Amino acid sequence: MSKIRYFGDETIPLEMHKVRIVQKLGLPPIERRLEVMTKAGNNTFLLPNAEVFLDMLTDSGVNAMSDQQLAAMMVADDAYAGSATYTRLETKLRDIFGMEYFLPAHQGRACEHILAKVLVTPGSVVPMNYHFTTTKAHITLQGGVVEELVSDAGLEVTSRLPFKGDMDIGKLNAVIAKWGADKVAFVRVESGTNLIGGQPVSLQNLAEVSAVCRANGIMLVMDASLLADNLHFNKTREPSCKDLTIREITRKIADLCDIVYFSARKLGCARGGGICIRHQDVYLKMRGLVPLYEGFLTYGGMSVREIEALTVGLEETMDEDMISQGPQFIAYMVDELDRRGVPVITPPGGLGCHIDAKRFVDHIPQSQYPAGALASALYIAAGIRGMERGTLSEQREPDGREVFSNMELVRLALPRRVFTLSQVKYAIDRLSWLHANRRLVEGLVFVEEPEVLRFFYGLLKPVSDWQERLVAKFRADFGDSL
Ligand code: F0G
Repeated sequence: MSKIRYFGDETIPLEMHKVRIVQKLGLPPIERRLEVMTKAGNNTFLLPNAEVFLDMLTDSGVNAMSDQQLAAMMVADDAYAGSATYTRLETKLRDIFGMEYFLPAHQGRACEHILAKVLVTPGSVVPMNYHFTTTKAHITLQGGVVEELVSDAGLEVTSRLPFKGDMDIGKLNAVIAKWGADKVAFVRVESGTNLIGGQPVSLQNLAEVSAVCRANGIMLVMDASLLADNLHFNKTREPSCKDLTIREITRKIADLCDIVYFSARKLGCARGGGICIRHQDVYLKMRGLVPLYEGFLTYGGMSVREIEALTVGLEETMDEDMISQGPQFIAYMVDELDRRGVPVITPPGGLGCHIDAKRFVDHIPQSQYPAGALASALYIAAGIRGMERGTLSEQREPDGREVFSNMELVRLALPRRVFTLSQVKYAIDRLSWLHANRRLVEGLVFVEEPEVLRFFYGLLKPVSDWQERLVAKFRADFGDSL
């Protein structure tokens, strides 16, 4: 779809697929949206999906599947042991990543559980470009420590750097020298990064990280959950990949790693997960945990239908047209918002469009959760569900002090092939309106604050009647519009 040029001035992303199954959506009136949001404690995780117009919470398990994937689900071999469905998946993964061994798991965090249980010991360290919530939780649960080594430039919200997910090699060498190679459980590269805006990792950087790992006898583990977007960026932003096929780039990436694991709720547009392993001894150490925690070795907690869909989805990931839809829609949304002065993370990455709440509502102190307040305001203004990725998603210090997040983001995920360009344009329009009226948005305070993972269940209320004033302004500007 990147190969089509336009006669007119406007360049728009063009899908190389058509839609053959649809799901009806509803948009409740704004007064109802305020009511629903109040009941959900201003927490987008607690919104009933039936009241949501555009669900941009995540791309996890909600990407649109292809006709080929759905068709494959019908021929799944439902055997507890030795299912032909499983053999097809194993063969496909061996073909794509070139690693001999595979262990299935029910989703990405289950892979992290197994990896951490086998490889992390108390007092060990896992250097990585950037953490993901579940990854860090499993490593620290085993007594390990996470060191984040993304380059300083990667944390700048606005930038032109094409690969903001790259690891700083100087920092990696320094961490290995500080801890000693024997204390490094493994090095983890998340490709691309989730919590810093879906920013990709270059093949060049991965090669440098791999060289350091091999020189020190350390295993390199890649989290490939967001690999599909990353491959698009390797192909389009990295000169050395320009003339390679997606399959060739994938193999070059995998050849640099010892383990590749993934959430198949993202990679392969299905629901499940798994760990590809190069070395037999490592495989044998992990194998016993699969029947214990996941399910027998030939399904690992996944339904055989999902396994069939995953096998097809992985093959489709090798198709440039299939994987470029997400990044191109995201780029359109980011560029259009940027042009209208709405603060967003740049350059556009994968996963979704990330709104910079620190600048959008710069009058709200971090103690009143600017990103949480903005996510609440966006649902009220537009019926769009985003995800807070800021201070609310952090955990308090043991003494009760708040940990103020580096970034205050509202993530608007674009599940692949799900939304149309007109829906994205609607989102851009409502975000622009909200930005023009941003002074009306004020902070939130906790009413009920769970100790663990408070962002999932916590209930909050507005610090004033700002939400009623936002509704009144909407009515004044839009009349009886939904
Ligand atoms: N690694 C990355 C990079 C992820 O983005 C996720 C999930 C996981 C691991 C865990 O996988 O959910 O299948 O257990 N990210 C989801 C999200 C939850 O909304 O971004 P999982």
